[in-house]
Amino acid sequence: MKTARLLPALVIALFTGKVFGFWEQGHLMVARIAYDHLSQESPSALSAANNLLQVYSNSNPSMTSLEGDFPFVECSTFADSIKAKGGSYQSGWHFIDNPFFDEGGSINDYPDFQFDEQNIGKVIPALVDWLSGNSGYQNSFAYQQITEHVSNENEAKSYALRLLIHYLGDIHQPLHASSRVNSKYPKGDRGGNSFQVPPKDDAKNLHSVWDSVVYDHADTPSLPYSSSAWNRLGGVCSDLENKYSFSSSEYNSVDVDTWVNESFAITQSNVYNGITEKQSLPSDYVQTNVDVIEKHIVLGGLRLATTIKTIFGNSGAVEEALFLQ
Ligand SMILES: *[C@@H]1O[C@H](CO)[C@@H](O)[C@H](O)[C@H]1NC(C)=O
Repeated sequence: MKTARLLPALVIALFTGKVFGFWEQGHLMVARIAYDHLSQESPSALSAANNLLQVYSNSNPSMTSLEGDFPFVECSTFADSIKAKGGSYQSGWHFIDNPFFDEGGSINDYPDFQFDEQNIGKVIPALVDWLSGNSGYQNSFAYQQITEHVSNENEAKSYALRLLIHYLGDIHQPLHASSRVNSKYPKGDRGGNSFQVPPKDDAKNLHSVWDSVVYDHADTPSLPYSSSAWNRLGGVCSDLENKYSFSSSEYNSVDVDTWVNESFAITQSNVYNGITEKQSLPSDYVQTNVDVIEKHIVLGGLRLATTIKTIFGNSGAVEEALFLQ
C-alpha cells in the first residue's frame, strides 16, 4: 500500500520536478541580494526575520533540512520543496495567469479561459499584512489555508515568511504573471509550460527556460550552503548588482500590482518575441533576455529587502519576533 502510493509520487517528482518557480538558483539569488542589503541597512529587521524563521524549523527539522547557517536565503526554496510533502495546496499561489492575447481579442472570445482569484498578486499582500499584524489579516484565504496546514499560529507565521521570500522571487519571473491565450491555447498556455522547446540544461519548455534565468543559472546548488558555496553565491550576486542599477523609487515600496504589471509587460514585449514552438531559441533572444531576467532578479532582491524592512522595521515587530522565539 505504502509503496504503491509512494511510487507514482516519486515518478511524478522525477519527471516534473522543475515545472514551477525560478529554479533554486534564481530564488537563492533574490534572497541573497535582499540578505546582503538587510545586513548593511537594517540588521535588526534581518535578525527579527531570522528569529521568526527559527520558530518553524525548531519544531519541524525534517521539513527544513536544507536550512543551515543561512536560513533566510536557504529557505527561499521551501515553497517548492513542500509541494510534494503536503504543501501542494499553495501551488497555485506561485503565479497569476493574466491573459496575454497575442492574436488580439479579449476575455469574451475565450470562454474556456479560467482565471484563479487565489493568486500571487493576492497572496503577497495578504502575507505582508499577516506578518505585519495589520488589522483584518486573519480574513485572507492565505492565512486561513496556511493555519489549517500548520499546527499552531506561531509556526504558521514562521512558515508564511518562508513562502513570502519565495513568492517575491516568483513574481519577478514574467511567466509567473501571464498566460498566453490564443486560438491554439484557448485555456491559456499555462505560463509557457505548454510551449515546448528542444531540451537544453533540463529546460523543455518556455516556462522552464525563464525559470533557469534563460539558461544562465540552471545549476542546482547543494543546500545547506558550505561556506565556500555561500561565498560563491555572494560573488555571483555582487557581480549582478554591479551590472544593473536602479533608482530607489523602483524598489522602495511594497507595490505588488506594479510588480505584476511589470512582469506582464515583459511577457508582452519579449517573452514570445521571435521564437517558434519546438525550435531552439535564437541566440539573440537568449542574449537579450538573460539581461532582462537578471536585472529583474536584482530588482526582486531589492524589493524583498524593502518588504522585510516594512514588516520588521519597527521595534514592536522585532520584539514580537524575539518573544516568539
Ligand atoms: C496594472 O495593470 C492593470 C491592467 O492594465 C491596471 O488596471 C492597473 O491600474 C495597473 N496597476 C498599477 C499599479 O500600475
